[in-house]
Amino acid sequence: MSTQTLFQAAEREARFRARTQGSLERYQRAVRSLAGGVSTSLRRGARPYPLYFSHGRGCAAIDVDDNSYIDYGLAWGPLILGHCHPAVVEAASKALAAGATYGAQHDLEFEVAEMIQRMVPCAELVCFANSGTEIVQVALRLARGVTGRPRHLKFEGHYHGWDDSVLVSYRSSIPQLEAATPGPVPTGLGQRPQSNAVVARWNHRESVEAAFARYGGEIAAIICEPLLCNSGCIAPEPGFLEFLRETATRHGALLIFDEVITGFRLAPGGAQQHYGVTPDLATFAKAVGGGLPLSVLAGRREFMDWIADGRVVHAGTLNGNPVALGAAKAALSVLAENDGAVYGDMWRRGEALREGIAAALRGAGLTVQTAGGGPVFQVSFQPSPAREYRDTLAADKAIYSDFAMALLDEGVMVLPDGRWYVSAVHTDADVERTLAAVRAAAG
Ligand SMILES: Cc1ncc(COP(=O)(O)O)c(C=O)c1O
Repeated sequence: MSTQTLFQAAEREARFRARTQGSLERYQRAVRSLAGGVSTSLRRGARPYPLYFSHGRGCAAIDVDDNSYIDYGLAWGPLILGHCHPAVVEAASKALAAGATYGAQHDLEFEVAEMIQRMVPCAELVCFANSGTEIVQVALRLARGVTGRPRHLKFEGHYHGWDDSVLVSYRSSIPQLEAATPGPVPTGLGQRPQSNAVVARWNHRESVEAAFARYGGEIAAIICEPLLCNSGCIAPEPGFLEFLRETATRHGALLIFDEVITGFRLAPGGAQQHYGVTPDLATFAKAVGGGLPLSVLAGRREFMDWIADGRVVHAGTLNGNPVALGAAKAALSVLAENDGAVYGDMWRRGEALREGIAAALRGAGLTVQTAGGGPVFQVSFQPSPAREYRDTLAADKAIYSDFAMALLDEGVMVLPDGRWYVSAVHTDADVERTLAAVRAAAG
């Protein structure tokens, strides 16, 4: 039996189209005024077409045709407290009613900064911006300023936003990667051909050593996703983050953890708390704003002082926006309550879900791997677990797309790339319903 038949994806897609006509009509209207009909390139490829939503509640997202989905995309990560968490809605509304923005100081700035100081190990000082892409640029600029060096070392398959400097060696083929190692492979999507990136392989110490041997005196920072969420949720092998910590220090470079996904998600103090390795700088976005646009750079005082005294410029009209910070204060308060008790539930439910999905799919005769765990994990159809980005190229994306289509038809919404986010408001009953949907999808 072919996999296509197994998920009944074609039949399901036809059925699904029939009951999402409101989305299709809106999409057809949108493409006439909005480039591509969507607001970020990644959404363009949605199957069968981008859906339109009228509202969300808890872990449910409801589309304009009144179809309700258990949401494991969570807006690509930010909704760690689900849709419309009452504390977040109240705090953001209160802040908005008081004044949308001042272009000047207000109490929420230091209140949220103090909360982050308490929660995040490396956060001796923090500063704010609006998106993950921006804040990564602040971190890299700071590292260049502090060290006087021009380059940064990144890893294959790691995503750090869409700026030319970091959108390299991402979603590239193996021949492309090998032709360029340890230089960067540009994706070519409108980017300038050169980048100051030097590229190494995740969980591959020799490639890091080789990069430093060749460019050592020029590398200002090592930047990585401490859990490689954007390419398969690949964990660092034991000792690998410690190795990066030691290597950066030995070569006079800064260690930057890009915690845009892992921050406030793996633990109250992010991946650095979860893995017990403290970087010099860390970037946060997504979960920290509880659904509003907010990003944060946190770091050691000796480096952040360069921003504090203006030796390195960090600017932005809407930085420190009170509505986003109101939401952040509420979200972080909920997450920090009772010593972060909510994380225990997220991990337990996320693990039950991950293991249940793997068991159901294997029971249906499919070869599946899962990686990561608890609040963020990956499901991929590939023969063996991935140790680095190159291994993820063995995954069968067409099967995953059929699986995701079948789940949508069953009322479960997942991201197209195989990453699942679990929120603090998914319940045991939601997990059970989801596993029933997975079994139904697998036929
Ligand atoms: C690890 C990581 N860094 C940076 C970014 C860029 O963040 P933003 O989309 O807010 O610009 C992302 C976005 O997904 C991310 O996952």
